[in-house]
Amino acid sequence: MENEVQKKRILSGIQPSGDLTLGSYLGAIKNWAALADEYDCYYMLADMHTITVRQVPADLRRRTLTQLAAYIACGLDPEKNVLFVQSHVPAHAQLGWVLDCYTMFGELSRMTQFKDKSAKNADNINAGLFTYPSLMAADILLYQADLVPVGGDQKQHVEICRDIANRFNGIYGDVFKIPEPYIPKMGARVMSLTSPENKMSKSDKDPNGCVYILERPEDILRKFRKAVTDSEACVRYDPENKPGVSNLMQIYAVTTGRSFDAIEQEFAGHGYGDFKAAVGESVVEMLRPIREETERMLSDKAYLQGVYRAGAEKAARVANRTLGKVYKKVGFIDR
Ligand code: TRP
Repeated sequence: MENEVQKKRILSGIQPSGDLTLGSYLGAIKNWAALADEYDCYYMLADMHTITVRQVPADLRRRTLTQLAAYIACGLDPEKNVLFVQSHVPAHAQLGWVLDCYTMFGELSRMTQFKDKSAKNADNINAGLFTYPSLMAADILLYQADLVPVGGDQKQHVEICRDIANRFNGIYGDVFKIPEPYIPKMGARVMSLTSPENKMSKSDKDPNGCVYILERPEDILRKFRKAVTDSEACVRYDPENKPGVSNLMQIYAVTTGRSFDAIEQEFAGHGYGDFKAAVGESVVEMLRPIREETERMLSDKAYLQGVYRAGAEKAARVANRTLGKVYKKVGFIDR
């Protein structure tokens, strides 16, 4: 260990706020598995962030466990990645509070996600929703993460994390590593099947726009059959003018490993019906082992418990080291 070069560290989180989508699988999780050799990877289920919007407790519990199982089924080996639940590592709440005191009202007010979410949840604009970015900063800074894989919608949160870390370091010296957002080169950007100008999202108003990775094959096939295309009846990659067809091609390219040229040739002279059926089937086949493996793990709760307990223990060791430094810097008495 000692003479091994220190690997760069990655931390990311996904909220267990809904079922995992094909978009988050192809755009993110699928690529995470490949990072484990090169980086020291921490993946967190951000359940504390999830309660900034009211949840049904039993659903949150079920989704958290399902998401953990799905991560593993997607290839995140718990021996090679630290998989843990945010609320199991108290240092997140503890550093979150400290960072609240180094985060300004004005900067939190400018966060676009806060503005969006308060418009959507006008009856529950709680303080947690407002200070969400300082908790997220704590998530990242506790692990001294170098890189934070996130989607475009979270870049502003990584920016404010850097601002908070720089502010803190400016006062107390080099306590925190300044993280960079990391947008993996490979990831596909999967669009909604029914409004392909928008990203595929679990908050899509049209349930047919979004495919979930654990969905039943017949539902997946139906959604692809209904996918929006255009009136040209020609399978050709042109995201500008043919966003629906291009999105389906993009998905098919990932599931089959074929190039756009090869796909165009494969469907030359065919109608969209054949094409959409083929894409749907390729997705079903790609997801089948993931769904089966997830179901198998969900029937073995003891195994999953072992994974998240071990993950929390490893995570806490790193997190508590950072928290200890911070407590000392701000002037708390050592216990
Ligand atoms: N806010 C992120 C999202 O909604 C989830 C998240 C919480 C996160 N903590 C994080 C992502 C730390 C990256 C790093 O997608």
